[in-house]
Amino acid sequence: MVYRAFFDAVFSRMDPEKAHERGFAAIRAGRFASSAGIRKTHAPRTVMGIEFPHAFGLAAGFDKNAKAVPGLLALGFGHVEIGTVTARAQPGNPRPRLFRLVDDRAIVNRMGFNNDGAAAVAARLHRLRRRKAGRGAVIGVNIGKTKATEPADAIADYVESARLLAPYASYLVVNVSSPNTPGLRDLQATDELRPLLAAVKEVSDRAHGGRVPLVVKIAPDLADADIDAVADLALELGLDGISATNTTISRPDSLKTSRRTIEAAGAGGLSGPVLNDRATEVLVRLRRRVGDRLAIISVGGVTTPDDVRARLDAGADLVQGYTGFIYEGPLWASRLAAASKPA
Ligand code: FNR
Repeated sequence: MVYRAFFDAVFSRMDPEKAHERGFAAIRAGRFASSAGIRKTHAPRTVMGIEFPHAFGLAAGFDKNAKAVPGLLALGFGHVEIGTVTARAQPGNPRPRLFRLVDDRAIVNRMGFNNDGAAAVAARLHRLRRRKAGRGAVIGVNIGKTKATEPADAIADYVESARLLAPYASYLVVNVSSPNTPGLRDLQATDELRPLLAAVKEVSDRAHGGRVPLVVKIAPDLADADIDAVADLALELGLDGISATNTTISRPDSLKTSRRTIEAAGAGGLSGPVLNDRATEVLVRLRRRVGDRLAIISVGGVTTPDDVRARLDAGADLVQGYTGFIYEGPLWASRLAAASKPA
């Protein structure tokens, strides 16, 4: 509860992106690591052929450029999914682009894939993998499309990122579900998705010189029939997993935040506990559809140790979160890691 008081007194008054930058710098410097009280959990699990220290990890978007992986692992995350990285560096959308709906412990963001680009992130991962802190780390690499790339050239854009980043990825995630790059979510249609995933799979395996587990990340706003179609496609193409879900473009009536505040935030992806029900529903649906032939990473609204247990009980292989970290603070990851259990 110390963090709650700190959050209320300091972070909640600060511009959300400034607060993120302050917190990020501290994590990167390893400033929290000794105070986090890391509990060694003994619940390793092998998923997609990778040994994870435990089931709980940090979702994509927090460490877009792979600048703070050792600090984040020291906080207790079992794995870190970096990115989204795009083939070319880009600044993202104009600020403000990150908003808190405090009454819902939720976030609206329209960051728009601000990142250093695949070549710079690959160079950083190359250096990290040569260090003790990075060698054995489980690092997922999440890739997306450069905004300026025409839709017709989307595959080449993803392929370029896959080629540069696959050599350093524990697993690779094709993100076709962020709401803040125009047209991106249209790639979830199977006619678009089939050639995209096939090309990324071929290139990433070749670049890696082995096999890189490949995952596709989907939106909670897909209709159930479309979720089934993506699941069938993932099986058809021999993918390794599905990550469900990204943020939602919906603004459910259940939100406690005033309509005025919600409207003032404007367009973007909504995250936090409001996603819990839909993310669980998608998880259960996917598990029923694919049996044990694919790994499922369950993301969206996970806040408490009970949430982690519930997702594992509902069939998740791995569980991730982001928004909870913002509201719960630096001890959050180690609390949730302790809820993980042997596979
Ligand atoms: C995200 N998320 C995200 N996802 C992704 O695949 N690539 C990205 O770059 C980002 N960026 C991003 C920025 C911010 C500020 C937030 C809050 C979220 C989505 C994230 O990984 C996750 O799927 C959702 O946020 C749902 O989980 P939580 O936040 O409810 O635990």
